[in-house]
Amino acid sequence: MNTPYSTDGHFIHPSILNADFMSIGTELERISTADSVHVDVMDNHFVPNLTFGPSMVEQIVQRSTLPIDAHLMIAEADTEAQAYAEVGASSVTFHLEAARAPVKLARDLRRKNVQAGVALRPATPVEPLLDIIGEFDMLLLMTVEPGFGGQSFLESMLPKIRRARAAISESNLEVSIQVDGGVSRETIERCAEAGANVFVAGSAIYRAQDAADEISALRELAQRHPTH
Ligand code: DX5
Ligand code: ZN
Repeated sequence: MNTPYSTDGHFIHPSILNADFMSIGTELERISTADSVHVDVMDNHFVPNLTFGPSMVEQIVQRSTLPIDAHLMIAEADTEAQAYAEVGASSVTFHLEAARAPVKLARDLRRKNVQAGVALRPATPVEPLLDIIGEFDMLLLMTVEPGFGGQSFLESMLPKIRRARAAISESNLEVSIQVDGGVSRETIERCAEAGANVFVAGSAIYRAQDAADEISALRELAQRHPTH
């Protein structure tokens, strides 16, 4: 299986949230130089927006040459996350706020040979998670309120990224940090410098004239900062 990310590099994951779904094949081709496709699953309960379910994600998996990074913004994470592993996502990230048994869920996902991620809304502190962070391949720190693309980056999340990276390094763990929301040429370097190594960008890439150019520009800016 293709692996969407690891701790020893910088990875660009375009979000297809604001892509043209009627032309999904072409929209996927535009981002073929990226590392993974970030698919935002929203259930209209955890967030006030509704997007894909497992059968649509399965179709995206079949159409895409890149691995799929599924970001589940769903209330019923414990019971519904497995379905996204079963339809072929390579990484499945659920929100800590939605999971009753996050360690069990991470272990069940990893047993299915997918990478497991845990996500935090901006107002959720990272500290209570640190004792169990080694159960995950990735920590997703939201840099906007989840639900919609095109919002402005929350600068106030930078110290949280820095604290999370310091704690992960101190424990000698191999956990990637993903940032999602408002990531662009203007903000990506500050995220990388703070300790993120996986970067989701939706509007920055899909609104660009040339998505491939935008992906390589973002990658180049991130790579100016060493992985931690
Ligand atoms: C927001 C989603 C993001 C979103 C990012 O809830 O999780 O992945 O699509 O879009 P931009 O990059 O436009 O902020
Ligand atoms: Zn997302």
